[in-house]
Amino acid sequence: MSAIQTILVENRVFPPSEAMVKSAHVSGMEAYRALYEESERDFEGFWGRLAKEHLVWAKEPTQVLDESNKPFYKWFADGELNASANCLDKHMGTPVEHKTAIIFEADGGEVTKITYRELLDRVSQFANGLKAHGIKKGDRVLIYLPMSIEGVVAMQACARLGAIHSVVFGGFSARSLQERIIDGGAVAVITANFQMRGGREMALKAIVDEALALGDCESIKNVFVYERTASTYPMTAGRDKTFAQLLEGQSTDCPPVMVDAEHPLYILYTSGSTGKPKGVQHSTGGYLLQAKLTMEWSFDLKPEDVFWCTADIGWVTGHTYVTYGPLAAGATEIVFESVPTYPDAGRFWQMIERHKCSVFYTAPTAIRSLIKAAETNEKVHPKNYDLSSLRIIGSVGEPINPEAWVWYYTNVGGERCPVVDTYWQTETGAHMINPLPGATPLVPGSCTLPLPGIFPAIVDEAGEELPDGVGGLLVYKRPWPSMVRTLWGDPERFKNTYFPPEMKGWYLAGDAAVRTIGDSYYRVTGRTDDVLNVSGHRMGTMEIESALVAKTDLVAEAAVVGRPDDVTGEAICAFVVLKRPVPEGDEAKAIAKELRDWVSKEIGPIARPKDIHFGENLPKTRSGKIMRRLLRTLAKGEKITQDTTTLENPAILAQLGQTY
Ligand code: PRX
Repeated sequence: MSAIQTILVENRVFPPSEAMVKSAHVSGMEAYRALYEESERDFEGFWGRLAKEHLVWAKEPTQVLDESNKPFYKWFADGELNASANCLDKHMGTPVEHKTAIIFEADGGEVTKITYRELLDRVSQFANGLKAHGIKKGDRVLIYLPMSIEGVVAMQACARLGAIHSVVFGGFSARSLQERIIDGGAVAVITANFQMRGGREMALKAIVDEALALGDCESIKNVFVYERTASTYPMTAGRDKTFAQLLEGQSTDCPPVMVDAEHPLYILYTSGSTGKPKGVQHSTGGYLLQAKLTMEWSFDLKPEDVFWCTADIGWVTGHTYVTYGPLAAGATEIVFESVPTYPDAGRFWQMIERHKCSVFYTAPTAIRSLIKAAETNEKVHPKNYDLSSLRIIGSVGEPINPEAWVWYYTNVGGERCPVVDTYWQTETGAHMINPLPGATPLVPGSCTLPLPGIFPAIVDEAGEELPDGVGGLLVYKRPWPSMVRTLWGDPERFKNTYFPPEMKGWYLAGDAAVRTIGDSYYRVTGRTDDVLNVSGHRMGTMEIESALVAKTDLVAEAAVVGRPDDVTGEAICAFVVLKRPVPEGDEAKAIAKELRDWVSKEIGPIARPKDIHFGENLPKTRSGKIMRRLLRTLAKGEKITQDTTTLENPAILAQLGQTY
């Protein structure tokens, strides 16, 4: 049986090794409990103490939590600091100054290293370039860059000026980009001419041009272009400048702009249950505190560690665990441009060996695809590589099934490295529920226990707390410093989404979870809203439905659901009613392709439906409601066993069962 299939019931408990307990920042369960109890006993004192210990303030805060305008919480509100100074300047004059900050490995394998001193110079020079173009505190800057040192520099340079970055993943389309430019009111775009993925050049600047040409983007005054490759690309005079032009003559000295702790550090769009993405707004002080702290708590970061988070800077994991956390903690980190399967599926293992990576952090979907590759091609199995440098291995983005966990633990971690399964969200800013490597006994498939200062609970639909063993909705009963502050330009949506009245003022995560009887370990089972998790990427079903029905020449109606997938966790399945008779055979295949390409163009390749089903109608109740429950069964290719008597049109079920 393949190790990626979800049949294993794994009841083993994996306690931390003695050596790990001895050397860890949080050493043993007693130490974890002591911290947790401190946070319970003196919530504000706890967070106030950590904020003083872990951040460098221009003005130390005298307040910790301001709850006067719930749920718009403020943390450390009268404190002043700068995020970039906390990641770079504070290391100057310490042993970290000349330490390698980033080991960058490009698509083709070329390696570039940069020290903290050099990085500070680059960030300062870049910030001066932005400043010279009028970019100042509070301005929004859209970043559409590949994984690169330049990407980290651009984000840090914005933070240095107090400008608010809005990073858009390179896999999003022109329309998605335009939507985010308009919503955030960005004044500039920072992009690259091309990005390299698996040996192929993919246009980025051309997509920016297309986005701006779609209209309503008058707020954009400048487009700065990193020339990643030598290939030519169109430039618009007056508006577009290369990085060389941006940096020309700029000094490498740029004093950081001190901002209030609550000043927005960034906006990051994520999918919700309506068609419109949400601009999650994060603060400077609270966010940075937990980014830094979790490097020590969750990854037990030590000065000699080589840390590697494989996430793209276009996602929150790349913000917290590539751009901010590792640098605030003074780590040496790997930044990787390419994909895990190029030139072959041994790339991750080979890079761990080459760079002596000691803390590795990736997504279950990557692990599952590499398991599959190793099962079919011995050569790319991790056993062929020297992975002895690894100490800790982490997982993020979706539930990790016990089979993948055990494979990861055994074949990558050599049965020596704790698997830190971190449960969190774009909105939480940093880790929330996960084991501590030198303390928590591990159970495959469980993210275990909340971090100190984090107070989750499981409740029913009416907000009543449920005991261990009973599944329900995951909530947090108290705020935390790195939490989302609001949705950009839409405070009402923020309130309604995360603090609905029935939840008694608790934060509603949008996930279902259950605690095990006995140890109260958490298991997060998946989203409770219309959000899918495809390869660890959040996709709103409504977003994809809106894109499909926007193809007005062809599509009359569409419904999107998820189905389980061995590798990507969930797969996108679209049920489509066309404005023409239901197609079959080659015609159906051709239309399905046309629709997939359309969704790619509208949202981005990550939203491409895997399965398309056609029918002359969708299954609806007599009151006209689409029966998504039935669609989910059809999407799995299973027989309908549910009661279909309320269905207005049962005959269409057979039609909709066919996949293209
Ligand atoms: O459903 C949960 C799942 O991913 C969602 C958050 O997605 P996003 O905001 O894109 O952030 C991803 C990186 C933190 C959650 O609501 N999720 C994330 N990590 C886990 C998880 N589900 C189970 N276990 C995890 N470790």
